[in-house]
Amino acid sequence: MNILILSGSPRKGGNTELLAEAFAKGAAAHHHVEIVSVRDYKVNPCLGCNACFKTNGICAQKDDMSVIYEKMSQADMLVIASPVYFYGISAQLKAVIDRFHNPIRDSFHIKKMALLLVGAATLPELFDAILTEYNLCLKFFDIEDAGKVLVRGVKDKGDINNTEALNEAYTLGCSI
Ligand SMILES: Cc1cc2nc3c(=O)[nH]c(=O)nc-3n(C[C@H](O)[C@H](O)[C@H](O)COP(=O)(O)O)c2cc1C
Repeated sequence: MNILILSGSPRKGGNTELLAEAFAKGAAAHHHVEIVSVRDYKVNPCLGCNACFKTNGICAQKDDMSVIYEKMSQADMLVIASPVYFYGISAQLKAVIDRFHNPIRDSFHIKKMALLLVGAATLPELFDAILTEYNLCLKFFDIEDAGKVLVRGVKDKGDINNTEALNEAYTLGCSI
């Protein structure tokens, strides 16, 4: 499979990135894996103009989303990796996901999705809002869940190295 990981932290070398890399290392034995750090792409929020629905998918905005659309159209599996920002995913990653509101998504053939999340708090409900959105998106796009790694209590860069999460992500990657 072609596995595309959308990694949503603006912090280079942070916990999200380490988690995404561990997953990628495990999955790379059997699949082609690419990590796209959304901070490296200039993607504007969706304008909600719906012009793309009248132009066969041509977005009114000219930005780096065209590169991500191309990668999405080649992907068999999508991995969403994000820090928790006020109980949601990062705004940079949300901007990319909102741009899937485009008929170009009909050309995607993604059949599996996985979720990798990190947050500083340890409260049990930390990921509830994101999990609700994730499950609704699986249903909307008719995609199978391939697994999740949800990491609490990691705040500073590298904190995740002191947890079992990188092993967990590697193992999940191997299982794909
Ligand atoms: C803008 C912002 C909002 C955050 N909101 C939350 C939050 O709601 N809950 C939480 O547990 N951690 C929150 N955090 C902490 C990050 O999720 C945590 O530091 C994470 O490890 C960052 O991942 P990174 O190293 O990949 O950037 C927030 C951090 C930032 C910068």
